[in-house]
Amino acid sequence: MLQVARIQGGRKLQGTIHVAGSKNAALPILAATLLTTEKVVLHNVPDLSDVRFMVEILQHQGAEISQPKKGIWIIQARKIIHRTPYDLVRKMRASVCLLGALVGRLRQAEMAIPGGCVIGPRPIDLHLKGLEALGCIVSVENGLVTIDAQHSKGDTVFMGGPMGSTVTGTANIIMAATTTPGMTTIESAAQEPEVVDLCTFLIKMGAKISGQGTPTIKVEGVDSLHGCEHFIIPDRIEAGTYLVAGAITDGDVTVKGANANHLTAFLDKLREAGVQVETGADYIRAHGRPSRAVEIVTEPYPGFPTDLQAQFMALQLLVDGRSTITEKVYPSRFMHAAELQRMGAEISVDGPTAAVYGDRPLSGAPVMASDLRASAALILAALAAKGETWVQRLYHLDRGYEHFEERLRALGADIERLPAAAMPKGFAED
Ligand code: EPZ
Repeated sequence: MLQVARIQGGRKLQGTIHVAGSKNAALPILAATLLTTEKVVLHNVPDLSDVRFMVEILQHQGAEISQPKKGIWIIQARKIIHRTPYDLVRKMRASVCLLGALVGRLRQAEMAIPGGCVIGPRPIDLHLKGLEALGCIVSVENGLVTIDAQHSKGDTVFMGGPMGSTVTGTANIIMAATTTPGMTTIESAAQEPEVVDLCTFLIKMGAKISGQGTPTIKVEGVDSLHGCEHFIIPDRIEAGTYLVAGAITDGDVTVKGANANHLTAFLDKLREAGVQVETGADYIRAHGRPSRAVEIVTEPYPGFPTDLQAQFMALQLLVDGRSTITEKVYPSRFMHAAELQRMGAEISVDGPTAAVYGDRPLSGAPVMASDLRASAALILAALAAKGETWVQRLYHLDRGYEHFEERLRALGADIERLPAAAMPKGFAED
């Protein structure tokens, strides 16, 4: 049943929220549990539709899975199959992380090639090029990719592409290399904290990895991996989203459990925009609305994260002057701009750059979410808008934010989740 969010803007958000575990760390780590026949216990796993979907895929592969309590998953992949069908893969691109785990465990994989999505084409050419560099035989036909890694061996793999490195591509090569004989050196590796957390997890399983968090990662193949217990890192994108919620409402929000070191580029831009930011060992606080237009360029980590671009665009709507956002990771990731314009924003998109002319009065309107981070950005703008906003297609939001509207309400927002039928006549999409 389709659900919508109704938001009445104008409330200041104040208080503290506890950040959940990282979606983009949990998904590759869940895939990596297939690398061993032994039991794995994961803690601080976020309660998201993408996580539940990855669990469903692991069960399809043959893993035994239980959830003794919220946030804790116990997984044991005693015997698994190497095929992953299209009807599972097409629903979530991150299922591509299974490739590296299946190659690492079974020396073979067969998976439908994941499609694109609204934020842009989501090719996996770099993933496949990396596996070929390890001596895998990769064939692609009828929308299926088949990998034969019987004779793979460690080698040097270059993971850079036209948009920089690839996060899940790096994760796949690391997972495949853990049991590939010899030394694998990954050049132009992704440096995201989520890749580092995957490596921390794999090392607990007995993998031999060094250089994680730098552009060069080395993996020495071992015969097999064993079970372990792991606590997923906090979600830096969720943390950044709530900090914007505090700033966009001229409020005062503290995110507990967040690691400020994972958000340096983003916090730097928040401060440049005039928001007061304080950080401690396990919290980040943002208060006061922005006052300055800034220019941001999204880049692979440690640059400004593309996953906080839409939220930052919403924030810049409050600021007089011209801000610019240049997307160097997903050049067409501006679906949210058109919906923000329905709320009164003035934004002009020219290829990979969006110019935001801020300080226009924002008014509530019925808007449509198009993807995960766009849905958060629309809600953030609605918090600052005058009047009532209805955000449709909330399923996008539930992929990556745990109980978002409940937690915003706890900070003082006037927001509720309703069935789509509750919308005023004529608002609902056909
Ligand atoms: C991960 O996606 C994240 N998802 C994305 O978060 C995030 O936006 C992205 O990294 C960039 O940070 C997960 O970790 C599950 P990429 P991923 O491969 O790995 C191009 C969210 O909102 N490319 O690093 O799929 C690609 O087209 C999601 O939580 C190739 O050209 O991203 C893109 O332009 C959205 N060939 C750029 O590289 C390839 O083989 C970065 O993609 C692979 C990627």
